[in-house]
Amino acid sequence: MDAHEIRNSYLAFLEKNGHTVIDRAPLVPRGDTSTLFNGSGMQSLLPYLLGDEHPAGKRLTDSQPCVRAQDIDDVGDNRHTTFFEMLGNWSLGDYFKETQIRQFFTFLVDVVGLDPSKIYVTCFIGDAANGIPRDDEAASIWATVFGERGISNGIAEIGSQADGDARGVKPGERIFFYDGGENWWSRGGSLEGTPIGDPCGPDSEVFYDFGPDKQDASYGLAHPASDGGQFMEIGNQVFMQYRRLDDGSFEELARRNVDFGGGLERIAAASVGSDDVFRISLLWPIIETLQTLSGRTYEDETASMRIIADHLRGATFLAVDGVRPSNKEQGYVMRRLLRRAIRLALSLGISENFFAGVVPVIADLYASDYPEVAASRDEVIAVLVKEENSFRRTLEGGLAALALYEGQTLTGVDVFRLSDTHGFPKELSVEEAYRLGIDVAPDWEASFAEALEEQRARSRGATRLGAAGLPGGAPA
Ligand code: ALA
Repeated sequence: MDAHEIRNSYLAFLEKNGHTVIDRAPLVPRGDTSTLFNGSGMQSLLPYLLGDEHPAGKRLTDSQPCVRAQDIDDVGDNRHTTFFEMLGNWSLGDYFKETQIRQFFTFLVDVVGLDPSKIYVTCFIGDAANGIPRDDEAASIWATVFGERGISNGIAEIGSQADGDARGVKPGERIFFYDGGENWWSRGGSLEGTPIGDPCGPDSEVFYDFGPDKQDASYGLAHPASDGGQFMEIGNQVFMQYRRLDDGSFEELARRNVDFGGGLERIAAASVGSDDVFRISLLWPIIETLQTLSGRTYEDETASMRIIADHLRGATFLAVDGVRPSNKEQGYVMRRLLRRAIRLALSLGISENFFAGVVPVIADLYASDYPEVAASRDEVIAVLVKEENSFRRTLEGGLAALALYEGQTLTGVDVFRLSDTHGFPKELSVEEAYRLGIDVAPDWEASFAEALEEQRARSRGATRLGAAGLPGGAPA
C-alpha cells in the first residue's frame, strides 16, 4: 500500500469500527497560543480528553497534518520531517487497552500487510514515587495478541533508554518495559515534563524492525527505544487516564481515554520495506523532481534533497493554512524553511528559481485528499514564488559579501553587518561560512548580540531625539 492508500484505508477501517471521521485541525492552533503549530493529533481535542462531550461522539478518527519546528535540525536523516501526518483515533471514555491494541495490530498486519514478526512494542514500567502502576495489563494483551499469531512474545524489563543501549534485545523478546522518559505521554514529553493541568498517561509504543544491519553501533545495542536506526516507532497508543495537578501529582480522570497517533509516513515506509521515509509516495516524487532539476542523484545528495523536500512540503501546507512568510512566529518558521531550501538548492547547483517547478508537484500529491490544497493551489504557488524571488536577491548579495571573508575569521560583528546591510540571516551566514571553509569565531553569538544591542541603543537614542525635535512629537 502507498501512503495515500494507507491513510484512506485507516480512516475507512476506523469508521467501520464505529468511529466518526472528524475534520483535521489547522496547522496554526485556533484560540491556543501555547504552541506555534499543531504538533500532534490530540492537540485540538484537549477539552474532550479532559471530560467535555465531543459533538461527534466518543469514537473519533482523522489524519492530522502536524508541524514540529523543533525537529528542524534533525531533518536530513532517514526519518525526521518537520511536517508529517498523524493518523489518529480516540476513545473518549469508551473502549480502552484491549480494543485499542487489537485494533491497531489488526490494521498493521491485516490491512496494511506488515509482517507481524517485525513488530515490537513497549509498555510503561510504573512509577512508585507518583503511585502509578506498571502497565502489566497492556503487556499481557500484547503477549496474547502475538501468541495468537504464533509469534514469540517474551517480556523484558529495560528501564531507561541508556539501560537498553547497554542491554539490547535477547532472543524471543518482543514486549519491553521502559520508564517515564520513554513510555509516558503528555504534550510535555516525559512523565516529569507533563504540564500542569494536562491530560496524560502511560503509553504503549509500536516499532518496526528494519533489521540489524540498520543499527548504528555508536548508539549501543539495538532495542526499540534506541535512536540507532534498526527500530522505528510507527505508532503510539496513549492510555490517557490521568491529569497533572498544581502540586505536580497525578489524579485519575473521571473517564479513561485512548489517544492514538500513528506516523503515516513511517507506516508507509515500513509498508514498502524501506527505513527511509523519503522513499514513500508522498515524498519520492519531490525528490525525483529535485534530481531532474539539479542533474544530481539522491544517493550523492541525500541529506540536502531530504531537507529541501521536507521544507518545501511543510511550507506548502503552511501556506494552504494561511501562513505567510514574515519575521515573526509562524511566518518566521515558514521563511526559515523556504530560505534553507533555496540555499541548499543552490549548493546542488540549482541557481535559478525552482519553486514553480516543485510546489505544484507537492500540491498535486495532496489535492485529491485535501480539497483545501486543490482550492488554494495557485495562490500557494504565488506566495512561495514571491518569497523565492525576494530571497534570491538577498542570497546573492550576502554570498558575495561573505566570500570576501575567505582566509579570515568571521566574527559576530561581521555576522551582524551581513544581516544588517544584506538582510542575510545569522544562521545562514554561519552555516555558509562553515560550508565555504571560513573560520567562525567561537564567541560569535555573544558579539553578535552585543552589536545588535548597540544598534538598538543607537536607534532608541535617535528616536528620542527625533521625537523631541519634532513639533508636537510624542513624549519619548
Ligand atoms: N498524542 C500521541 C502522540 O503524539 C499519540 O504521540
